Amino acid sequence: MSDRQGAEQRLRSLRDALHHHNYLYYVLDAPEIPDSEYDKLFRELLELERAFPDLCTPDSPSQRVGAAPLREFGEVRHVVPMLSLENAFSDDEVRAFDARVRERLGDDEPVTYAAEPKLDGLAISLTYEHGVLSRGATRGDGSVGEDVTPNVRTIASVPLHLQGSGYPAALEVRGEIYMPKKAFEELNRRQLERGDKAFANPRNAAAGSLRQLDSRITASRNLEFFAYAWGEVRASAWPDTHSQVLARWRDWGLRTNPENRMVHGVQGCLEYFRRMSGKRESLPYQIDGVVYKVDRLDWQQRLGFVAHAPRWALAHKFPAEEVTTRLKAVEFQVGRTGALTPVARLEPVFVGGATVSNATLHNMDEVLRKDVRVGDTVIVRRAGDVIPEIVSVVLSERPADARQVKVPVKCPVCGAHVERETRERTKQGNTVIEELAAWRCTGRLACSAQLAQAILHFAGRRALDIEGLGEKLVAQLIAEKLLRSPADIYALSHAQLAGLERMGDKSAENLLAAIAKSKTTTLARFLYAMGIPEVGEVSAQTLAGHFGSLDALQSAALQYAAELTQARRDADRALTKNLANSALRQVPDIGPEAAASLAQFFGEPHNQTVIRALRAAGVHWPEGPVRRAAAGRLHGKSFVLTGALAGMSREQARERIQALGGKVTGSVSRNTDYLVVGAEPGSKLAEARRLGVRELNEAQLRDLLDS
Ligand code: IVH
Repeated sequence: MSDRQGAEQRLRSLRDALHHHNYLYYVLDAPEIPDSEYDKLFRELLELERAFPDLCTPDSPSQRVGAAPLREFGEVRHVVPMLSLENAFSDDEVRAFDARVRERLGDDEPVTYAAEPKLDGLAISLTYEHGVLSRGATRGDGSVGEDVTPNVRTIASVPLHLQGSGYPAALEVRGEIYMPKKAFEELNRRQLERGDKAFANPRNAAAGSLRQLDSRITASRNLEFFAYAWGEVRASAWPDTHSQVLARWRDWGLRTNPENRMVHGVQGCLEYFRRMSGKRESLPYQIDGVVYKVDRLDWQQRLGFVAHAPRWALAHKFPAEEVTTRLKAVEFQVGRTGALTPVARLEPVFVGGATVSNATLHNMDEVLRKDVRVGDTVIVRRAGDVIPEIVSVVLSERPADARQVKVPVKCPVCGAHVERETRERTKQGNTVIEELAAWRCTGRLACSAQLAQAILHFAGRRALDIEGLGEKLVAQLIAEKLLRSPADIYALSHAQLAGLERMGDKSAENLLAAIAKSKTTTLARFLYAMGIPEVGEVSAQTLAGHFGSLDALQSAALQYAAELTQARRDADRALTKNLANSALRQVPDIGPEAAASLAQFFGEPHNQTVIRALRAAGVHWPEGPVRRAAAGRLHGKSFVLTGALAGMSREQARERIQALGGKVTGSVSRNTDYLVVGAEPGSKLAEARRLGVRELNEAQLRDLLDS
């Protein structure tokens, strides 16, 4: 016998032995030889294959080491879509599921379910042709996934070929790729040692490890696989139940979860759930619930599917995990619109599969409602990928020096004033100012947290219309510190622009021309460009028409700011009534929210600085004469409309009243001067009569408008 023949024989027996031991280890969980023995056989296989490369087969265990990197993943269209599961979070939801199943089947007997742990990894499809693994694909969007064949080949518990006999000519096995808890901790330790980022949880780690263009990286990551479903099957015979299919698979060398059970009726499901809840911690992998599947396949077929999930299966999820830790501080983050969000800084704690050191507190109302104080021991909850949150405070453990959370007076990013949002409401006929949960940085134009959005809005088509100043470029200019406020746009030079990535000579020139052109604008556009909350394009036009000049608008806004501060300090009705009568509120369509927002915007010195800089840079518009609101005959008069008018629409009536300087509001209060009563009036009439508000019928309104 030649060397080669001998090698061929030895290789065959080594491959068989390694496959067999792999099967004993992974599928039966009953190894017969120690790891060191296995490694010895494996090394011998590698040496022989190195000496006779052409004798290496695609299903050789040596192929699990990974292959040369790909440029990109190919696409795989799933012949049978990969669905997701409907979720249940309570026993009652499981009972409802079971009731629906039995109703559809028209059977009152308890249904037998296959109950399985719900693995927290990622779904995979494995195609076996004549027993040989030919393709592995991710779920993707359910219809099209990624071809990750070289990667799945590296996973030891994925058989490279099926064993035994009787397997179908074509079989698409589906299951979960996951990273065991120990491998996850090990990987994160290595990541941190190397100065790389740690993975948030085993699922992310599994997904990140599988979706590697270089499958040698996947090979180093200790992923595992459990089979639990199937797609396309070309078989002459197939079992009658889900659990029989899985039993058959074990004979073929496919790894199924030893925790899988057949249970009877909803009672059996709930018992299984409780048992697995108790076992969860001690399992070597993460699960986030259990799955129930109607065991009989003919029943599955009868039950069918809804949009994205089968009617015959249900995921029963564990409640979000909760732990306690200490609240070290509360900081405030400024969002893109200037909203301040309190963020809890926590003593790091492991919960829901990840180490958590921050949690959201949503808003200040929540901080007060939960009475969260710095130094408190708090209960933290986290479910799956959801942002961790503080559930409550353990009051019995509150230290004497626990500190109350205070909203900063100044924006932590730009130093501008922070203001609480307010709303005006009518309460028993009185106008009151109500404080809302949201706090906002008023430095709209000067706050770097809001800068990108502010600049994009400023340059937008309906604002100053600077063509070519798009998202990517703005991000680049901010990163290069060339833009600190919208006014800096007008200081950009050709040299600065042409030096940027993807920016040629010509595009720099075009952009500069667009910037120069934008200097000539209208007051309405300029106002809209400021991005003042509550002031849209239409309000900007109304304001521009009403005040005629920026100075006139600014002084009305500043006056309103002063009145607002007064009124807020003092809930006196006389003051709130003044507020409704102030110049800013006489502008048609400018309600209390927009007025307050204008007051805050113009009241912030940082914004004034930017506006001055913009004007100094040459941004200008034609200014009209200052039209006094008092010119209107109905100035200072407040109207409310109820019921249908015959000769005009409510909208027309409103416009005509406003054109004469009157104000139309939505509800009746003591400040209302007239209630216009049409056909079939609503409850406003009773309220007006209670408060003694004067009523006008349609004819009287016409007289008033036409006189
Ligand atoms: S069966 C048509 N069984 O859960 C039903 N899914 O929420 C196909 N999952 O995408 C899924 N463990 O990634 C099934 N024992 C199990 C599972 C399981 C985890 C995942 C799977 C699926 C997701 C749906």
